[in-house]
Amino acid sequence: MTAIQTDHISFKIDHFQLHDLSLSIPSGKITSIVGPNGSGKSTLLKIISKLLAADDGSVYVQNVNTKKYKTKEFAKTIAMLPQSKDALPNLTVKELVSFGRSPYKQFLYNRSNGEDERIINEAMEMTNTTKHKEHLFYHLSGGEQQKVRLAMALAQKTDILLLDEPTTYLDIAHQFELMELLQQINEDHQMTIIMVLHDLQQAASYSHYMVAMKNGSLVDTGFPKKMLTTAFLLNVYDINARIIFEEGYPLIIPKIRRNKDVYCHKHNENK
Ligand SMILES: Nc1ncnc2c1ncn2[C@@H]1O[C@H](COP(=O)(O)OP(=O)(O)OP(=O)(O)O)[C@@H](O)[C@H]1O
Ligand SMILES: [Mg+2]
Repeated sequence: MTAIQTDHISFKIDHFQLHDLSLSIPSGKITSIVGPNGSGKSTLLKIISKLLAADDGSVYVQNVNTKKYKTKEFAKTIAMLPQSKDALPNLTVKELVSFGRSPYKQFLYNRSNGEDERIINEAMEMTNTTKHKEHLFYHLSGGEQQKVRLAMALAQKTDILLLDEPTTYLDIAHQFELMELLQQINEDHQMTIIMVLHDLQQAASYSHYMVAMKNGSLVDTGFPKKMLTTAFLLNVYDINARIIFEEGYPLIIPKIRRNKDVYCHKHNENK
């Protein structure tokens, strides 16, 4: 089953272009999108979530062209946690998480019902943000804010969750906590999770499927632990490194760059 399909999409902005990108993302799995800065990962997520419109081509979410979705119906299907901190209104954590329920509200009837209340509390519990529920969002640390934004997306109760660099601002312990939480949500609810990650070790370890981009094009897709090779790192990131697996977890070990060798050699000669 395919959760998302992009069919020959192209998009141009200033000097950047997404080139004829065709991609299928499996349903009920965790997919990571990786690639260098500026390769088009966020742009791709924005096109999938209809924040941007492709110049050409089509996007299908659960086999329906995204152009055919009504706004509320789409918001009940797909939630997005954007990369940068949006200018969110200055509200308490609980009030912000409640925004996740907006697609389920009737026009002119804005109050939360018991079901909304249960889902809002559950989203805060899952992200460990209940203790901040009465605090103002802007008084929280960057990492705490990130978890609140995730709670807001979870309260939307969608089949598909798009996350653009969800581990930003999180310390290493909270990064792993988040990865474990996403894995748990995926297993318990078969939610399709698509996330942009820069940490290739985490991407390979926690996802079933990986998509690699470079210069606005797809360069590789597949099973992450197989994709992560020395040749892949050289091709996509232009770095020399070897990869070892320790208890199934991939470790990327960079090789000392040649120019650094030259520098060390010259440095020693001058002593
Ligand atoms: N509104 C815009 N105006 C001009 N250029 C833009 C705009 N949005 C994106 N771009 C350019 O498109 C390119 C791709 O941007 P995008 O944000 O998709 O990259 P990315 O892969 O998500 O990078 P990062 O890993 O740094 O988040 C960049 O070079 C960026 O400067
Ligand atoms: Mg980005």
